[in-house]
Amino acid sequence: TPRRSPPPDIHSRKGGTPLVCLTAYTTPIARLVDPHCDVVLVGDSVGMVLHGLPTTLGVTLDMMIMHGQAVRRGLERALMVVDMPFGSYEESPDHAFRNAARLMAETGCAAVKLEGGEVIAETIRFLTGRGVPVMAHVGLTPQAVNTFGGYRVQGKGEDGERILRDAQAVAEAGAFAVVLEKMPEALARRITEELAVPTIGIGASPACDGQILVVDDVLGMFTDFRPKFVKRYAELGSGAEAAIGAYAADVRDRRFPAAEHVYATASRAGDVA
Ligand code: KIV
Ligand code: NA
Repeated sequence: TPRRSPPPDIHSRKGGTPLVCLTAYTTPIARLVDPHCDVVLVGDSVGMVLHGLPTTLGVTLDMMIMHGQAVRRGLERALMVVDMPFGSYEESPDHAFRNAARLMAETGCAAVKLEGGEVIAETIRFLTGRGVPVMAHVGLTPQAVNTFGGYRVQGKGEDGERILRDAQAVAEAGAFAVVLEKMPEALARRITEELAVPTIGIGASPACDGQILVVDDVLGMFTDFRPKFVKRYAELGSGAEAAIGAYAADVRDRRFPAAEHVYATASRAGDVA
């Protein structure tokens, strides 16, 4: 299948109709989001959302590859980006390239995303110069939760200058888009105005060139906590809870299986559905 060429497509959307982005971790969800999204991110949030991990720090490259392969099978048109997990890119540009190349080769993703600003800019330059399109991610970077000491809003007051410098550094290093996570609107607007590449916000106001959310948050499937920036468009979690409870009650009260779920005793050819 012909692939949309990633960076140019996304790049040209700067300041236009907002870019629509969601995460996906599985084939069925990838199929659902594909027709509606410009970018589908296989986020390392998968660790918390699907694997019950307390943070994203325990996510491995193998987990990202497995979920990336599943998502790839469900996409036809959206640009697929895969997160580089903690420990897979920080050590050196060479190490990052080796792992990014594995992600691209084994999942078929069009680009990778990694967290960090000035500190990681050299690595981004190394990757983008060698055929690996990079989406950057600044502001609240969840892989740094232990150095931030929590998931607080970033870039308040003076600290905003640091995040602006981070965003400029990764854009200058060649990132084709920059995720801005959890920061005040004024800062997100200023960064968006100053960068030539699109910004994609999560908890970063409508001033960004696009928006991203975790799909399980949007669907009401992941409800352990809800940051202020999440809008739930469905309550599938409570729907699932009710359905499972109804199934359990039906089995215990012998209402399920009912006559229509039962195969006839005589085995007729073709009676296989
Ligand atoms: O892992 C993730 O889901 C992300 C986001 C930007 C939503 O990095
Ligand atoms: Na992530």
